[in-house]
Amino acid sequence: MSRKKLNIGLFGFGCVGFGLYEVLQKTPGLKANIKNICVKDRNKTREIGVENFTFDKNDIFNDPEINVIVELIDDADAAYEIVTTALKSGKAVVSANKKMIAEHFEELLELQRKHNVPLLYEAACCASMPIIRNLEEYYDNDLLESIQGIVNGSTNYILTKTFKENLSYDEALKQAQEKGFAESNPILDTGGFDAKYKLLILLAHSFGYIAKPEDLLNIGINNIGGLELKYAREKGLKIKLVAQAFKNNDGNISAFVIPKFVDTEDRLFNVDDVFNGVITKTSFADEQFFVGKGAGAHPTASAVLSDISALSYDYQYEYKKIAQQENISLSDDVNLKVFLRHQIEDAATLKKHFSTIDESYLNHESGYITGTISLENLRNIHFDESFDKSFVLLEIAN
Ligand SMILES: NC(=O)c1ccc[n+]([C@@H]2O[C@H](COP(=O)([O-])OP(=O)(O)OC[C@H]3O[C@@H](n4cnc5c(N)ncnc54)[C@H](OP(=O)(O)O)[C@@H]3O)[C@@H](O)[C@H]2O)c1
Repeated sequence: MSRKKLNIGLFGFGCVGFGLYEVLQKTPGLKANIKNICVKDRNKTREIGVENFTFDKNDIFNDPEINVIVELIDDADAAYEIVTTALKSGKAVVSANKKMIAEHFEELLELQRKHNVPLLYEAACCASMPIIRNLEEYYDNDLLESIQGIVNGSTNYILTKTFKENLSYDEALKQAQEKGFAESNPILDTGGFDAKYKLLILLAHSFGYIAKPEDLLNIGINNIGGLELKYAREKGLKIKLVAQAFKNNDGNISAFVIPKFVDTEDRLFNVDDVFNGVITKTSFADEQFFVGKGAGAHPTASAVLSDISALSYDYQYEYKKIAQQENISLSDDVNLKVFLRHQIEDAATLKKHFSTIDESYLNHESGYITGTISLENLRNIHFDESFDKSFVLLEIAN
């Protein structure tokens, strides 16, 4: 099969954009050339000559030789404009922007169909790990029962530091910010939003369900405190931020992002630092485990490169699971065994939301409950701001 020559219009020349430039230099076999690069800040010093850049996006859109748009900017709203304009004008697109993709999933799907152009976004989900292409192609027929994993590198770095170096959450976050792994306003990562956007994308490619971000519960690591760290350390556990989706007994799907205690037997236990790890469980293959770097210039650029390469043979996602699915819905009808840290005065009220209580502890400042609670009750408590609390998942109860 002869491969298309690709002329790329690149948006963004930051961490991943420059990473892609370097990676392409080292991949001469791929007939892909960056023809023009659009950036924002006119005063920034660049790693390559100014003649390579434009500040006007129309220089890229109006260039008939450019047949691929690669969108690697850090602004989800501007990315939406760029990606939709490109698709409407029949240019293939590669993007790494999970927030933008998750917020507009259905519309982006529709635009691809209407204009018969591909939008590929492997780097948006777990950076270097080829999870989307595997879900699309390899798990085409073998039915997925569940997918779960660590999908956010920054929070995994913070949690790794917390456990390896016995740091408090605040100290670990500060170190992550100093190293550039967490942004100055890190709530997108630490609040579990970034993990939720990735879960939404995984949900579409694994179960064919298109959720809206607000449909999926995300509890981040930003409230993790001393009692749950002590509980984990005493029992030889670690806390990981885990995104998961699984089929319920009734055939519907439950999906959420909640910090989880993992023990040494759990495959996620040794997924540390900026690594991501995803476990799939299918009817025939049983469990499979993917692990790889979930952030960084070259790891992320490697997934972008793979998408660009796929475009050279006209690859596009077929969204096979979406086509196969009928009448599947999201369900809160699942019971979870959880650890809930709370204020002393809230103990009695909170206990009423549990169907069973295994352990109840109070010290002079606060306390915790472990026991079984429905996802619906957990969601209600989580959004009730009158409680100062932190949830950590122990296991799925049914
Ligand atoms: N970094 C990672 O490890 C990683 C991993 C997976 C996915 N991603 C995703 O990859 C994307 C890029 O991330 P990054 O870390 O490379 O960001 P970054 O280092 O902050 O770079 C952002 C780039 O976007 C440019 N930009 C911003 N708004 C623009 C606009 N309206 N028009 C043109 N250019 C614009 C900036 O221009 P100036 O240079 O002029 O400021 C800069 O070059 C994001 O969607 C991110 O979520 C990143």
